[in-house]
Amino acid sequence: MRIDVLTLFPAMLDGFLSESMLGRAQEAKLLEIKVHNLRDWATDKHRTTDDRPFGGGAGMVLKCEPVFAAIEQVQTPGCRRIYLTPDGTPLSPALALELSQQLHLVLLSGHYEGIDQRIREKIIDQEISIGDYVLTNGTLAAAVVIDALARFIPGVLGEEKSLTTESFTSKLLDFPQYTRPAVYRGMSVPEVLLSGNHGEIEKWRHAQQVEKTQSVRPDLLK
Ligand code: ADE
Repeated sequence: MRIDVLTLFPAMLDGFLSESMLGRAQEAKLLEIKVHNLRDWATDKHRTTDDRPFGGGAGMVLKCEPVFAAIEQVQTPGCRRIYLTPDGTPLSPALALELSQQLHLVLLSGHYEGIDQRIREKIIDQEISIGDYVLTNGTLAAAVVIDALARFIPGVLGEEKSLTTESFTSKLLDFPQYTRPAVYRGMSVPEVLLSGNHGEIEKWRHAQQVEKTQSVRPDLLK
């Protein structure tokens, strides 16, 4: 799978993409990610990428020219061109899974003030939001989308099994985890986890999941 990210702030992704799972996924060639600076497609001597809005109002708007040029250069036939924006379709596990099955994604990170509507209408296939809050730009949102979908690419997570038992794949939140030592500063690990009785452990974990979901996210149980 290949992902091209178009952003005005490419350095925001430097550490993120090279660390941990994503770093390893790229080394293993499961995923190829290229980050591009939109400014590279600006044509004037000041490398301008935004301008004042027609009709007036505060702030600046990302211009058509650099964005059309950038997308036209990196896109491939059949790729999906996505714009990250708080007024897009909410990211969900199902959407992350679907994105992970694409061969090529182009992720366009917006500008805090907005982008020219003609970009959205002409050269964007899908608009995605990572939640009901407004970030200063879409670069972190692109990072979140990449991270969420990468987990669904076979081989990226160590054990395929960890996918199926985790929060949201099952619509229940996760159960609590413990590791050694069995007693730390007087706090003991629940007895059942040390019992070796797998049936009882499963039952306990499920009960914990239901209780946690009930208290934190009752909407998931409806
Ligand atoms: N850009 C700014 N805020 C965003 C959000 N919540 N989701 C996606 N892109 C964004």
